[in-house]
Amino acid sequence: MREHIERVIFSAEEIQRRVQELARQIVRDYQNGGKRDPYGRPLLVVGLLKGAMPFMADLVRALDIPLEYDFMAVSSYRNGTSPGEVRILKDLDRAIGRRDLLIVEDIVDTGHTLRHILRSLQAREPASLRVCALLDKPHRREVEVPVDYVGFVLPENVFVVGYGLDYGELYRNLPFIGVLKPEYLREGQG
Ligand code: PRP
Repeated sequence: MREHIERVIFSAEEIQRRVQELARQIVRDYQNGGKRDPYGRPLLVVGLLKGAMPFMADLVRALDIPLEYDFMAVSSYRNGTSPGEVRILKDLDRAIGRRDLLIVEDIVDTGHTLRHILRSLQAREPASLRVCALLDKPHRREVEVPVDYVGFVLPENVFVVGYGLDYGELYRNLPFIGVLKPEYLREGQG
């Protein structure tokens, strides 16, 4: 797979360093009054499938606080549907009522996916709701969404793969984030 990559944008080491920094920040915030759950239940970390899987796995292992985790999966509106039509394919296993929630995303692009998830979770009235995204593409935003923790901001017009990010479902397993060689970009994929 590596020979398909034109250049590495964030190396595995850089990503790991940044994940540790983010984790330290999150631990600080949740230890210092971040917790509002009236029953003192542990933080619930919610990973969005499939892209967030590698980031989520590294992040939760760096978070030295009591936590539980679960996953959600949403249908991509890119498959011919309009941006408003984000559907939840897999929901949380249990009701969350008044818990502290941290959503983990690999990338925030237009913001439509995150907005849909936030609306759905907000309607369940959690004690608190924050978002941690490894990558942010603020210049691509179509709807405003709050992102509390950002790993890296991507430069404009860069399409990246690796560390959970795919192109036609491939490259998610690369330990770094990079740009594909043009010859591996095919019509109608992505
Ligand atoms: C990607 C990514 C985010 C979303 C961001 O998911 O994981 O969930 O797109 O884009 P947006 O801000 O424009 O909504 P994708 O639908 O590709 O699914 P995946 O996580 O399974 O790769």
